[in-house]
Amino acid sequence: MYSPTRRSLLAGATGLALCGAAAPSRPATRPSVAPNGAPSGPGLQSHAARRGLFFGAAIDNGLLETDAAYMSHVPTECGVVVSEAAFKWADIHPTADGFSFDRADKLMAYAKRHELRVRGHALVWHEANPAWLEQTITPANAEGLLTRHIATVAGHFSGRLMHWDVANEVVYPEDNLPLGLRNTLWLRALGPRYLDIAFHAAAAADPGALRVLNEYGTDYAIPSDERKRAALLGVVADLKSRNVPIQAVGLQAHLDASQIALDQSVLAKFVGDIAAMGLKVIVTELDVRDNGLPADTQSRDEAVAAHAKAWLDPVLANGAVLGVLTWGLSDRRSWLNEKFQRPDKLPQRPLPLDSELRRKKLWASIGEALDAAPMRGTPL
Ligand code: G3I
Repeated sequence: MYSPTRRSLLAGATGLALCGAAAPSRPATRPSVAPNGAPSGPGLQSHAARRGLFFGAAIDNGLLETDAAYMSHVPTECGVVVSEAAFKWADIHPTADGFSFDRADKLMAYAKRHELRVRGHALVWHEANPAWLEQTITPANAEGLLTRHIATVAGHFSGRLMHWDVANEVVYPEDNLPLGLRNTLWLRALGPRYLDIAFHAAAAADPGALRVLNEYGTDYAIPSDERKRAALLGVVADLKSRNVPIQAVGLQAHLDASQIALDQSVLAKFVGDIAAMGLKVIVTELDVRDNGLPADTQSRDEAVAAHAKAWLDPVLANGAVLGVLTWGLSDRRSWLNEKFQRPDKLPQRPLPLDSELRRKKLWASIGEALDAAPMRGTPL
């Protein structure tokens, strides 16, 4: 069973002491400013903990093993880390008979040294699968493959993770399948019951890790996102109706600063609909791409920061939301530069710290959104 670390308890206790019984409606502290104009002082985890939330970031193993400067900022800013790739099938189950925990264990050891909590990501996904799995999966062997993988992997980390993304990106209405489920290797082999199998296997292997269905593309008032939101709610309701042990929805929040269709009432209703089914919500992969914005750094940073806050405010207003993670901590590395290259080829600025590891306007706007969130109880 996961239990909070001394560090997270201290952070929470400090926050409670600062806020007192009658928490102020405005932030107790605002980011102070360093001589270079960048905010200084406590990290985003401190801002989150004062509200009973957590803040964290995805860490790439390459950075963990080679970039000490980058990693030195992680314990300051984060209470939680998640690996960008090391817990996925391709890394952790590279051959049919072989599991390889080296990279994931390195992240676990780092987290333990710094008293950080860890999310597991992900037990079922249609990407980052090893070739052997794609080549050998059949309707006859799929359930055994899935249950053995989850028993072994979730079992290896049992009692040490705060959450597992049990199922990642399983909704894709454009595939025109029942419930809006995505056409994946698991769906083709097992039908929709692969989700039941995965959640039950995760519950058996590590009952203390919160079981999450993680999804992207639910952020805007545009037709594709509307379909995704509706389908996701339907899938969750379907799982709940069969007592499948899902406990939370992860909203990836890969945002686009040039998208104007950000409707806060739509977001508030969506999060409210998830909460009304008795589920928690986690913001799992926040970043803000700027490939649709002009080059000027200052205006880009301002737009990115304002966009993130406009999205976070209605989401964090719901008490079912447990915390926020960004997909990386610094602009030094982001998947967005590969997937959404800017026309002018400039590096994107989607994360809280810049490539020199200085806090940006996005850092401040995330801090303000966390400060403005209603007070929670002790986070899971
Ligand atoms: O570690 C190896 C390295 O040893 C090797 O030299 C190098 C050669 O390409 O590859 C390295 O592994 C790469 C890994 O990222 C490093 O972090 C993999 O090839 C690459 O496929 C992997 O990409 C990750 C991708 O998921 C697939 O696993 C990205 O970093 C990661 O940001 C991305 O994350 C996804 C989330 O899981 C789900 N939501 C969307 C998000 C962005 O695509």
